[in-house]
Amino acid sequence: IPVEDFDLVIFGATGDLARRKIVPGLYRRFVAGQMPASAQIIGAARTRQDESAFRADMRGAIAEFVGRDEDEAQLDAFLATLRYVPIDARGTDGWPELSAHMRPGVVHAFYFSVAPSLFGDIAERLASHGIADADSRIVVEKPFGRDLVTARALNATLAQHFAENQIYRIDHYLGKETVQNLMAVRFANILFEPLWNAQYVDHVQITVAETVGVGGRGEYYDHSGAIRDMVQNHMMQLLCLIAMEPPYHFDPDAVRDEKLKVIRALEPLDADDIVRGQYQDGPDGPGYLQDVENPLSRTESFVALKAHIANWRWTGTPFYLRTGKRLRARTSEIVITFREPPHSIFDDGGTPKANQMVIKLQPNEGMNMTVMIKEPGPGGMRLVQVPLDMSFADALGSNGTDMPDAYERLIMDVIRGNQTLFMRGDELEAAWAWTDPIIAAWDAGTRLPEPYDPGSSGPEEALRLLHRDNRRWREIR
Ligand code: BG6
Repeated sequence: IPVEDFDLVIFGATGDLARRKIVPGLYRRFVAGQMPASAQIIGAARTRQDESAFRADMRGAIAEFVGRDEDEAQLDAFLATLRYVPIDARGTDGWPELSAHMRPGVVHAFYFSVAPSLFGDIAERLASHGIADADSRIVVEKPFGRDLVTARALNATLAQHFAENQIYRIDHYLGKETVQNLMAVRFANILFEPLWNAQYVDHVQITVAETVGVGGRGEYYDHSGAIRDMVQNHMMQLLCLIAMEPPYHFDPDAVRDEKLKVIRALEPLDADDIVRGQYQDGPDGPGYLQDVENPLSRTESFVALKAHIANWRWTGTPFYLRTGKRLRARTSEIVITFREPPHSIFDDGGTPKANQMVIKLQPNEGMNMTVMIKEPGPGGMRLVQVPLDMSFADALGSNGTDMPDAYERLIMDVIRGNQTLFMRGDELEAAWAWTDPIIAAWDAGTRLPEPYDPGSSGPEEALRLLHRDNRRWREIR
């Protein structure tokens, strides 16, 4: 179903995110028939170039990042929706030209794909030139601040010109297919909800493992580290979707209210409950310190931690989170380990093992449950654990590659005016309020991150975080 006609302005249109994600994503929605041919995508950036140069650049970006043989006629039709305006975010150049491009009576959205230090200048100029009004939407990206103070300041800056229901803070994890499916699985089935609490869930593991290092983004990354880059946002969102109470309705504020309560219920982290790591040199490339060109860096490229949610549902069920670069495999998954049955009636057959539910976000999106059954054959009652496997690609007859990418889905939600999958200002601030003391405690110390080999599953200490509780991580593979 096509969305309403729109003018989407991309500030920072010559940047990496626009080339890699935003424009290729819009192109795929265009091919899918969702983006109207009359819509305009207006690139705005400092680079002085004309429309044809911008279109040529975006043609290259699509060739590079969409990666299949494109229908030339369709590609030309898409490129015809692109406009370009050289603009000075801190000055006066370009603003009247941008204003002249905007059509009345269509949805107006402004994507701030620029450094956060420019948010205020752009917001102010959009308002003073009368380009944005009370119906316009703005889209902002992480890093949304680097702590509570800076996040609050950014929220306050945007609030001078835009109401909360106009601000779309992207966390691209919320656009992933399985992440949304988490809500469907939890709230459209009776099967799981009665067991979804500390009485039946022993613990939860959330792993986001990557094989890439930080080469190329060293400067940004070394000032962030895994906690700011992944935990405060993506991992926190996953934790919220697992832990939240059922919202009364699938409605932006109802969902975000419930997520906010989870974040506020997180207990301050104990220093013993966190492990940081840094990848070392390996056969495939240099180690972290060389990648970021900072031999004295104490920034973590890996973190594992044990969080507690202090509320009626979850007290007694730890949530173990782990994420890192240059690990053994690229895999993101959530594992719910249920408690063991209270009593075994099978004397010789072995003890029943705890059921596990594995929710796989990428690659190969799907769900897997382990259950105990009788080993087939005449050998008597012997128990074996088998998977009840459901790959979404198999179940839904899709090969996975046609699933919309997180960005394209979220951009269409902006045009539709649906904020459910975007972070609200208070939610984001609460997430910083939880991570700030964790970061401050580390900064105040002198300890170095634990070294780990590239291609491993992180430092030994991260394994011990679970071993000391008589648990183990699911293998990264
Ligand atoms: C980004 C982080 O937000 O998410 C990156 O800045 C990380 O460091 C990326 O690699 C992971 O996203 P995905 O979709 O590849 O899992």
